[in-house]
Amino acid sequence: MTTVNRQWLIAGRPNGRPLRDADFARAENAVREPGPGEVLLRTLYLGFDPAQKGWMENVGGYVAPTELGEVMRGSAIGEVIASNAPALVPGDKVVGRTGWQTFPTAPASDVQKIDNNTPLTANLGVLGTTGMTAFFGLSKIGKPFAGDTLVVTGAAGATGSVVGQIGKITGCRVIGIAGGRNKCQWLVDELGFDAAIDYKAEDVRERVRELAPSGIDVLWDNVGGKILNGLLGELAMHARVVICGGISRYELGQMPAGPENYFNLIFKRATMSGFIVLDYQSEFSWARARIVNWIEDGRVRYREDIQHGFENAPRTLMRLFGGENFGKQLLKVD
Ligand SMILES: NC(=O)c1ccc[n+]([C@@H]2O[C@H](COP(=O)([O-])OP(=O)(O)OC[C@H]3O[C@@H](n4cnc5c(N)ncnc54)[C@H](OP(=O)(O)O)[C@@H]3O)[C@@H](O)[C@H]2O)c1
Repeated sequence: MTTVNRQWLIAGRPNGRPLRDADFARAENAVREPGPGEVLLRTLYLGFDPAQKGWMENVGGYVAPTELGEVMRGSAIGEVIASNAPALVPGDKVVGRTGWQTFPTAPASDVQKIDNNTPLTANLGVLGTTGMTAFFGLSKIGKPFAGDTLVVTGAAGATGSVVGQIGKITGCRVIGIAGGRNKCQWLVDELGFDAAIDYKAEDVRERVRELAPSGIDVLWDNVGGKILNGLLGELAMHARVVICGGISRYELGQMPAGPENYFNLIFKRATMSGFIVLDYQSEFSWARARIVNWIEDGRVRYREDIQHGFENAPRTLMRLFGGENFGKQLLKVD
């Protein structure tokens, strides 16, 4: 067995600008044998989320602050190599926030054993925090009713694609907004969205007006900026606006002024609310079981974009901000 744990460390704070290679530094350390209650893992897959850039910047305050020089934080699937904890044995597969390192040693309580009956990589995506974000954000904040018009931005992404499909299961009419023809076609042809708008080629607000003349009942926003502002002008009475993310802001040096159309919330008696998925952690297991059933029934489909090679982790994270990923962004460590 190897004795070297390869790592990527945080070396820069990308506040107000895109990520660059110099924001990450490589390191090699000796593998640490597990102490009491700990396990030694071999990392198989890393999962990527736009929030990782925010963690490097220490914005938001919903996770502990990062330090320069610490191992880059992130979710991973690992195989237990050695265990000093009764609940896990070598060969078990686990998921947890073990970071960008090839052989992490972690408390067994920080990782979760993967059910062998589930598709392995789905535990970083549709059955992981991504799926939980879609499930709880939509059900608890969006509160959709059958017959509602649900509009989803970032719709072909890992989270947005699940939101739209749960919307369909709920009986909503679902319109997705995504970048490019291929992604829009996939939403309609494969996932059963009622319509999709290519924000790179079409006037989003005008198209929403055509497709949803009675307005938007539930607006799920992953992107913020101009698209959010336009859609706020197209709300139906008593609309619910779910602020999940705002990726169009994540690389900006200076934040734009607030969305001028927010005043429509008054006229439409609408609500706009943010949420953090981690607040629903105690309820994850039943939601996961529900999504497993939907996948088995063919009612939820998902797509994964798998890059290869541990050395490519920083570049893989960067893919999210240029829309290069098509589906949940993963990396096979190899
Ligand atoms: N609140 C929470 O608890 C929570 C939890 C998880 C994730 N999130 C948020 O959910 C959102 C989606 O995350 P994800 O992991 O599912 O990523 P993702 O949607 O799979 O990937 C990001 C996508 O964002 C789109 N994008 C990038 N730059 C953009 C821009 N300037 N304008 C419009 N779209 C842009 C790209 O799609 P196109 O090709 O379509 O442009 C890209 O593929 C993020 O904002 C993330 O921060 C929130």
